[in-house]
Amino acid sequence: MSVHKDVKKITTNTLQKLKNNGEKISMITAYDFSFARIFDEAGIDVILVGDSASNVMAGHETTLPITLDQIIYHASSVIRGVNRSLVVVDLPFGSYQSNSKEALASAIRIMKETGAHAVKLEGGEEVLESIKRIVAAGVPVMGHLGLTPQSIYKFGTYTVRAREETEAEKLKKDARLLQDSGCFAMVLEKIPATLAKEVSEMVVIPTIGIGAGKYCDGQVLVMHDMLGINTEFKPRFLRKYLNLHPLITGAVQHYIKDVKSNDFPNESEQY
Ligand code: KIV
Repeated sequence: MSVHKDVKKITTNTLQKLKNNGEKISMITAYDFSFARIFDEAGIDVILVGDSASNVMAGHETTLPITLDQIIYHASSVIRGVNRSLVVVDLPFGSYQSNSKEALASAIRIMKETGAHAVKLEGGEEVLESIKRIVAAGVPVMGHLGLTPQSIYKFGTYTVRAREETEAEKLKKDARLLQDSGCFAMVLEKIPATLAKEVSEMVVIPTIGIGAGKYCDGQVLVMHDMLGINTEFKPRFLRKYLNLHPLITGAVQHYIKDVKSNDFPNESEQY
């Protein structure tokens, strides 16, 4: 029997049951009310209000500029469109790295001001104290290992992480630590599929992959990428389910033509 179909509201416990049952977890990003409502009604398990909003909503090159106030605005819009999905919100760069007290204060602002169900933060050993403190306050935390875009200037590139033994060993250690610190799940971004398989089998909590292969317990994609709104971003891991960019361009060009030719509005489209 499918756990997904049985539940009215997806919780962190549901995700664990999905993993235990061998059912995959579906996750997608959203940043506003209208798309969140469509994704929720379509039956997505988890909606991530990702700091990728910095790229796809605000047009920044990296995820670093987005602020806590801005992610709170996006998350509170998303939550108004959601009935069933679990909503996870990224802690932005600079809102949790200083110390665990700051991390908890940021997580509390997100939970109080948006109504979201969980937070996500990037990193392993170095953020454990913050994770423990947030979890102790009753806020579910999703971890994020592998390519962690908030550290892009440390890595210098968005290529696959943990191909080398030392980095792979550190990632496995971090995965165990995240689990032991109370994370309910973790994102594994852009790591070899064999390593993601090993981690997914090693930890009890669900792993959600992006560019981490088929053995993760779930998958996440950025909505603008999988709907084909972005044209420039073409990594190997991305499957495009729609090609919206030319469709939207065509529709807008059609509208421009109708306005210019005085075809729109017609008699029946006016009062
Ligand atoms: O911000 C985001 O969209 C993310 C996903 C890529 C996992 O963190």
